[in-house]
Amino acid sequence: MNILILGSGGREHALAWAVLQNPKCDKLIVAPGNAGIAQIAQCATLDIENGGSVVTFAEENAIDFVIIGPEAPLAAGVADRLRDAGILVFGPSARAANLEASKSFTKEICAAAGAPTAAYGHFTDAEAARAHVRANGAPIVVKADGLAAGKGVIVAMTEDEAIAAIDDMFGGAFGGAGAEVVIEEFMEGEEASFFVLCDGETVLPIGTAQDHKRVGEGDTGPNTGGMGAYSPAPVLTDDIAQKALDEIVRPTMAEMARRGMPYQGVLYAGLMIKDGQPRLVEYNVRFGDPECQVLMMRLGAQAMDLMHAAAEGRLGDAQVTWADDHAMTVVLAAKGYPGRYEKGSVIGGLDGLPETSSAMCFHAGTAERDGKIVATGGRVLNVTARGESLSQARARAYEMADRIEWPDGFYRRDIGWRALD
Ligand code: AMP
Ligand code: GLY
Repeated sequence: MNILILGSGGREHALAWAVLQNPKCDKLIVAPGNAGIAQIAQCATLDIENGGSVVTFAEENAIDFVIIGPEAPLAAGVADRLRDAGILVFGPSARAANLEASKSFTKEICAAAGAPTAAYGHFTDAEAARAHVRANGAPIVVKADGLAAGKGVIVAMTEDEAIAAIDDMFGGAFGGAGAEVVIEEFMEGEEASFFVLCDGETVLPIGTAQDHKRVGEGDTGPNTGGMGAYSPAPVLTDDIAQKALDEIVRPTMAEMARRGMPYQGVLYAGLMIKDGQPRLVEYNVRFGDPECQVLMMRLGAQAMDLMHAAAEGRLGDAQVTWADDHAMTVVLAAKGYPGRYEKGSVIGGLDGLPETSSAMCFHAGTAERDGKIVATGGRVLNVTARGESLSQARARAYEMADRIEWPDGFYRRDIGWRALD
């Protein structure tokens, strides 16, 4: 099978790495890819949010199967264009991708499906939104309705903070994404992520994970895309995962099918767990980054068969084989991230790192210049390792991190603390 993966992050490096372990993969192209991906697969320049360009590229390169990594091409309808052209694709339609691209759409689907989530109001008018905050008090959560690259959510601890967030959003701070606002009840509890594949009908759980969103140790400081992750998430016990499946995920998928927009791809449910009960925080219509890195390390070659089965509507016959193992990934980021940071610093020490089925350094924002690897983004490397226990996985991951020579980078030393302490 000739496979095309769209994307350029650590998530796509991990997807490429898993796909290449599967003997059914004859050829792999990743567009646009990064310097780490280029070491294992062919990379190609391509406007991945332009459905027409992706279809033409796939036809010219005799691609049999396309795996879409990030949300932007999904929201832009790239999966629809590929399906229209008769090319097999892993990823939801633009309409189904609204489960991530529109918070008010998701809240409405959850209400119809009876899925437990925070109470909410949906506003297109700033004064009505402010009145809702005054009536409900703080803490309260203000969210820009559309895609805002993970920055459109303000967990306001005071009414003033919530009002300021509303004024920012209606004032255009998030562009089109903030023209509509969802205001939610603040949920307490512990967060965890639940990943399932869906083929439009059948739902197949493929793992749980937890990430660390804050930049600083002890989960302090500003939010980031994620500074590290591990799988499984101990808080998501089998019992709670079953509840999440029965009460949240399956009813949502059934409601999507009922509305004529069956969901095909990976669904990432962000859950808040309190007193043994899961409630939905949000859906994402893609793998998490860096959660994908730990999931791929645990799934290995079967990941490709599972994604292929989802795309062909065969999940009813598919099975996930679990090793009783753990995986952890630690993100190395450029100093200054998630604020301003320099680009172009040289990273050394990468050549001697292990590259096995239990340890890999996945690249995110990297490029090759004059034979050297340089940093080109905020999140740059993901050292990822597997172990019989989470502490073993952690020791292996940090051993790799410590061998990387990059004075302009940093990483958190406490990934996994919640699960380990
Ligand atoms: P989202 O982009 O919707 O995942 O929100 C980003 C983060 O904000 C989540 O991971 C939570 O930590 C937090 N958050 C979002 N909604 C709520 C809520 N209703 N209650 C408490 N925390 C929330
Ligand atoms: N790591 C969080 C996300 O991918 O949304």
